[in-house]
Amino acid sequence: MSEVSSATLAATPGVARENQDEDEERSYQAGGKKTKSPRSNPLDVLSLVFQQGGPGFCQFALSNACNANCGFCNFARDTLPKEEWEFVERQGALDAIDILHKQGIRYLVLTGGEPTLHPNLVDIVRHGAESGIKVLLVSNAGLLKPHKIHELIDAGLSSFIISIDAANVTDHEENRGLPGVCERIRTANEIFAERNIKATASVTMSRLVDYDALPEFLASLGFSSVVFSYPLKYLPSFFLGYRDSHLVDYTADELEAAYEKVKQLKKRFHVVNPLLSLEEMQRFVRKEEQKYECLAGFRYFFLDWQLMLWRCHHWEEPMCSIYDFDETKLIRDGCTRCMINCYRDSSLMQGVAVSMHDAYQAVRKGNIVEGAKALGRKSTIDSIRAVAEEFSWIKKF
Ligand SMILES: C[S@@+](CC[C@H](N)C(=O)[O-])C[C@H]1O[C@@H](n2cnc3c(N)ncnc32)[C@H](O)[C@@H]1O
Ligand code: SF4
Ligand code: SF4
Repeated sequence: MSEVSSATLAATPGVARENQDEDEERSYQAGGKKTKSPRSNPLDVLSLVFQQGGPGFCQFALSNACNANCGFCNFARDTLPKEEWEFVERQGALDAIDILHKQGIRYLVLTGGEPTLHPNLVDIVRHGAESGIKVLLVSNAGLLKPHKIHELIDAGLSSFIISIDAANVTDHEENRGLPGVCERIRTANEIFAERNIKATASVTMSRLVDYDALPEFLASLGFSSVVFSYPLKYLPSFFLGYRDSHLVDYTADELEAAYEKVKQLKKRFHVVNPLLSLEEMQRFVRKEEQKYECLAGFRYFFLDWQLMLWRCHHWEEPMCSIYDFDETKLIRDGCTRCMINCYRDSSLMQGVAVSMHDAYQAVRKGNIVEGAKALGRKSTIDSIRAVAEEFSWIKKF
């Protein structure tokens, strides 16, 4: 377990008193080595589509430590004591990136806990970008001072995802336990715009959210797109981004209505979750048949701070240590047993690549009929529709 610098910890959670320093920090002068966020190589993508079902992604939780206190999350600072905090070792994280790249992972989502608490975050981002992986960061933004943002962008970070819990400053900052964080988010969004870096708000569907007021509030913070996290009361893996809290405790009718609200919101703001995926979640709530297989374990993975690789956040057992990860560990069984947006939404969109892979593999074995069937699946057409819906957002990575 590595040590977190005392400066980093001293910076939490009082965000307000630090905002006064930020004007000075805005005049950041770039220095040192710069790494560009990698561009997709069309040949690499094509080869991955036919050989593996497309580029994969991995959610990498760099630690279980958090500076915030969200009421719907078990990583919260009052829930997980500091004595239990763990941080992935720097070298282990760099090794993991190499292994993931070899296995066709081209998107790495750095998460936690709060990933900005990790003392080697910039090195990890740089190594990912230099390897040809697009690196995204999910953060509460409490520690995202201007200087840190510039450093991360200079290291090759592709995109920021910033969590927002409510449609007004007070409710968001109270739930996070981070006074002043909204001002920091506003400043961060200004810098992202100046540096032409994509940022998306991530809103957990909870009782804190006023869906009607949300677009205006997100716009006031500088966001132009939002992705919703579907509410989680329980997860069996190491990942603690869930809680048995009234904030995410819904009856089936309430949850179906909340998904309907998100669908309606699409008419007023850029909601990244595809419409067909929101409809799939409504069928899930009604216990109806699921149409789209989840690709977690096949193209998507979760890696924890101990470097154990899991199929997803919703699995009881890890697949293996990252050091043992190879093609023989892949699982594809059509699972649809949970509602985690990052796996379920992405699986719908990746369906077309997986169908091309299936068709190619069938034809290679001389089975033309099977190949044609794979391409003609209804889920392939739906996947194309979902990609078309979100193409403007996807292509900005
Ligand atoms: C666990 S956090 C880690 C990254 C960072 N600390 C943050 O909050 O952005 C990742 C995402 O999980 C969401 N989350 C936390 N608890 C949740 C729950 N019970 N249900 C659904 N999403 C949840 C957060 O709002 C956040 O957007
Ligand atoms: S949602 Fe993120 S910021 Fe909030 S307690 Fe969980 S890990 Fe920390
Ligand atoms: S549906 Fe849920 S439990 Fe099943 S593989 Fe996907 S993320 Fe994991």
